[in-house]
Amino acid sequence: MSFLTPEARPLLPVVILLSGTGTNFSAIAAAAAAGALPVEIKLVVSDKPDAPGLERARKLNIPTCYLRMADFPNRAAHDQAMAQAIDAAAPKLVILAGYMRILDTAFITHYQGRLLNIHPALLPEFKGLNTHQRALDARVQWHGCTVHFVCDELDAGARIAQARLKILENDSAQSLAQRVHQLEHILYPAVIAWYASGRLRETDGVAYLDGHPLTAPILIGDTDA
Ligand code: GRF
Repeated sequence: MSFLTPEARPLLPVVILLSGTGTNFSAIAAAAAAGALPVEIKLVVSDKPDAPGLERARKLNIPTCYLRMADFPNRAAHDQAMAQAIDAAAPKLVILAGYMRILDTAFITHYQGRLLNIHPALLPEFKGLNTHQRALDARVQWHGCTVHFVCDELDAGARIAQARLKILENDSAQSLAQRVHQLEHILYPAVIAWYASGRLRETDGVAYLDGHPLTAPILIGDTDA
């Protein structure tokens, strides 16, 4: 039992990895700044020196670094260097927020159970890239996003939560991307808050919320828009 009030609880140190725009990073940082998410972003890491997400972090005085794949002989060496940079920041959770490279097995094993990703589709549907166009092409009714623990198989780790929307007749890949992004910015901070407050864990490839195994992802947010 904890006698600490939520305000007195220590903030969970986290590191965020990104390759691009960084709107999910901004949503997480904004929730933390508003006191709605008990995390402290210790470091933002990118594989791209010019990722706009890095500039967003700098503006908030959050430490950043980048490691270009081209500066390393292979992915294993790159990811090992990245793990060293991450571990120097001593995070309890590592958050992939639009990190667009497949991670080395040793890296994933090292962070097993404390590595989260957000994917722009209702997994297990549409793993990989171009999810919005593929959802349109497949004429599915529902689309959305999934937060999951990361395992060695792409987009296949234990699913935690999803937010979904109904595809509209006039939706394009762009409009879908925009609408799914809005859901991502709600879903990701919510799931990270579960982890930060000790409610969410992963053991042997199974996600547990409040001690109960998640046999299906939890659906949060607007389910019929
Ligand atoms: C998001 O769509 C996320 O689901 C995917 O990469 C994109 C990152 O967007 N993994 P942003 O850089 O956070 O805006």
